[in-house]
Amino acid sequence: MIVLGVETTCDETGVAILEDGFRIRANIVNSQIPLHERFGGVVPEIASRAHAEVVTRLIERALVEADLSINDPKPPVDAIAVANRPGLIGALLVGVTAAKALSLAWDVPLIGVDHVHAHIHSVMLSLSNPPETAPREEDYFPAISLVVSGGHTTLYASRSATDHEILGNTTDDAAGEAFDKVAALLGLGYPGGPAISSAAEKGDRQSTRFPRTLLGKDSLDFSFSGLKTAVRYYAKGQDAPRTAPIRPGLKVEDVAAAFEAAAVDVLVEKLRRAMKQRGMQRAIVCGGVAANRYLRSELESFAKAEGVAVHFPELKLCTDNAAMIAGLGHALAARGTRHNLSLKASTMTSP
Ligand code: KG4
Ligand code: ZN
Repeated sequence: MIVLGVETTCDETGVAILEDGFRIRANIVNSQIPLHERFGGVVPEIASRAHAEVVTRLIERALVEADLSINDPKPPVDAIAVANRPGLIGALLVGVTAAKALSLAWDVPLIGVDHVHAHIHSVMLSLSNPPETAPREEDYFPAISLVVSGGHTTLYASRSATDHEILGNTTDDAAGEAFDKVAALLGLGYPGGPAISSAAEKGDRQSTRFPRTLLGKDSLDFSFSGLKTAVRYYAKGQDAPRTAPIRPGLKVEDVAAAFEAAAVDVLVEKLRRAMKQRGMQRAIVCGGVAANRYLRSELESFAKAEGVAVHFPELKLCTDNAAMIAGLGHALAARGTRHNLSLKASTMTSP
């Protein structure tokens, strides 16, 4: 079965072609970073327009890369999976509309996919080391999944690749958002995650100790806004404006490193709690922030110390891509999921 995946939830237009749920025959990610950079964040209207400009061309390119022809009488793919939630509404509508149009024209099934669930699916895919045979779902699930992205910090009990129960969520900023905001505050540029990560590698994680907000003793929710404010007060002084330079004598690299240490500690501790509460020996950590080297190394130490398994996607598949959308679309299709042209786009994740 060949699935076309379409991803337009935020600031990346992604198109992928996936065969039998695991062979990635094309995976194109068109980043809009250059368009949003000067605003220091994603501008929704610019994002929607940019998706609309490129989406059909990228689909054509992906079909060519995958050696599939749109000129044959037979449709080039067997199904179309599209991320229809959560995301920026205008951006989502571009992908959903393109997917609906092609599903109608080619008369192939349409499958709406939750983008956050698709991040979890990305652990089963590989670009750098394509497997010979389909990965076995039972090697990954059941698991506790932690999705850490620019829009979400969510813990799930994942019973299977398609069955995810929310255990905890962010109460304010998402982890990636905290990285982005702290990077902006420290003048490290956009997007902030990779910038913080490389600055932090040259800094001292113990230069100061920022608060680890764990909420209640058993809470699986997250809060990062206090940490962001603590960094701001420490770096610039309590009453200084947001745009003030950092205090003399402080090194940006040290502040980035101390921030990263606090954020990563919280993520690891919440994952530990969730695994303990659910008696689960296996975890999946995914989403853009899962590309963070320090988080990955701390999770590896945690897994070793606790004798549990932690899977993360390969680096290129941590951030937004359509291979994960096609992958989850394939798994849903195999279980009989089909949507029709009334499929709605939604800003909210699945309940
Ligand atoms: O999953 P993703 O591509 O998009 C959303 O679904 O939101 O995640 C993007 C987020 C951004 O906030 C970005 O700063 C963060 O992932 N990110 C990182 C790293 N690479 C990307 N955060 C920390 N360290 C990184 N290396
Ligand atoms: Zn994402």
